[in-house]
Amino acid sequence: MKTRVFSGMQPSGNLHIGNYLGALKNWVRIQNEYECIFCIVDLHAITVYQDPAELRAKIREIAALYLAAGIDPKVCSIMVQSSVPAHAELAWMLTCVTPVGWLERMTQYKAKAAKQESVGDGLLQYPVLMAADILLYQAGIVPVGEDQAQHLELTRDIAQRFNSLYGDTFVVPGTSLPAVGARIMGLDDPTQKMSKSASGANHAVALLDPPDKIRKTIMRATTDSLPCVDVTTAGPGVLNLLAIFQAFSGWNDDQMRQHFNGMRYGDLKKQVAEMVISHLEPFQERFRRITSEPGYLDGVLREGAERVAPIAEDTVRLVKQCMGLYTSPANAAL
Ligand code: TYM
Repeated sequence: MKTRVFSGMQPSGNLHIGNYLGALKNWVRIQNEYECIFCIVDLHAITVYQDPAELRAKIREIAALYLAAGIDPKVCSIMVQSSVPAHAELAWMLTCVTPVGWLERMTQYKAKAAKQESVGDGLLQYPVLMAADILLYQAGIVPVGEDQAQHLELTRDIAQRFNSLYGDTFVVPGTSLPAVGARIMGLDDPTQKMSKSASGANHAVALLDPPDKIRKTIMRATTDSLPCVDVTTAGPGVLNLLAIFQAFSGWNDDQMRQHFNGMRYGDLKKQVAEMVISHLEPFQERFRRITSEPGYLDGVLREGAERVAPIAEDTVRLVKQCMGLYTSPANAAL
C-alpha cells in the first residue's frame, strides 16, 4: 500500500511564490508516488475574522490554483476541510490530550497573538486542528514549507502522547521540506518570511499577479550595497532572489555559481523576474481555463471529499473506541 500524504493551505490572502515553492511544487512532484490528499483548510482560516463572501470565493480560488499547478484530481483527492466534519471532531479529542503549555510555545501563535488585543481561542487551538487533519488520514508524510516544521513536531508529540495513553492508534508523520525554497523571504524585507497577510505592495509575488506587476516587484527587491553577486558571501536579499531562481529553474549549485557570480544586481533581478514569469504565465492560463468551466471545480471538491470521508470516519471510530466514548453496536459510527 502507498504511504499517504496530507497537506493543505489556508484560503486567506493571495497565494504567493513562497507557497508554491515551499509546498505546492513539491506536491505536484510527489503526487504519483504516494496516495495524496490536498486540503483547503477553511476552518483554519476562520481563526481570524474572514469576510464570508471573500472566504467563499477564496476556497474556490485555492482549489483552482492547486489544479493549475498540476495537481491531478484523478490521482489525488482535493477537498475542503469543513466538508468532512471528522476534522473538527478529532480536533476536540486531541485537544483533550494536549497540554496548553505546548500550544503557548508555538512561535506562529506567539507572533499572531502579539498583534491582537483579544486573542481568540481558535488561534491557540490552531495546531491541534492541524494535527487532526494529518492524523485523521494516518498520513506518513506531510510536505510543507519550513514555517510549518514546528507544527509538525507538535503533531508528532500529540500522536505519541495519544499512542502512549491509549495504545498504538496513530501513524507518527514525517515532515518533507523542499531542498530549495523551503523559506522564501519577503522581497521588501528579506529578514521576514514572505507572507500572505503582509501588506507591503512590494512584499510578495502572488501566483495570479500579471507579468508587469511581477517585474516591478522583483526589480524593487531589497538587496545590499555590494556591487555584484557573489554566491558565497551574498546577503539575505540576494540569497532570496537566487533561491527563487534556483527553485523555479531546478539548476544545481554549480550552475547557479557559474551563471550568477559577478553579475550586477539589476541583471540578476531581470533574470529572476523572467524566470518567474515564464512559469506563472502558463499557470495563469490554466487557472483561467479551470475557472471558466462551470461545475468542474465543485465536482472535483465533491469527489475529493467523498473519497476521503470514509478514511476519516474510520479513524474517528477507532479513536472513540480507544478513548471509551460511546459507539453504538448497531452502527459503530454513532
Ligand atoms: P499556509 O496556508 O500558511 O501556507 C501553505 C504552505 O505554504 C508554505 N509557505 C511557505 N513556504 C516557503 N516560503 C514561504 N515564505 C512560505 N509561506 C508559506 C507553508 O509552509 C505551507 O506548507 N497551517 C498551514 C495549513 C495547514 C496544514 C495542515 C498544512 C492546515 N492543516 C495539515 C499541512 C498539513 C498553513 O497555515 O499554511
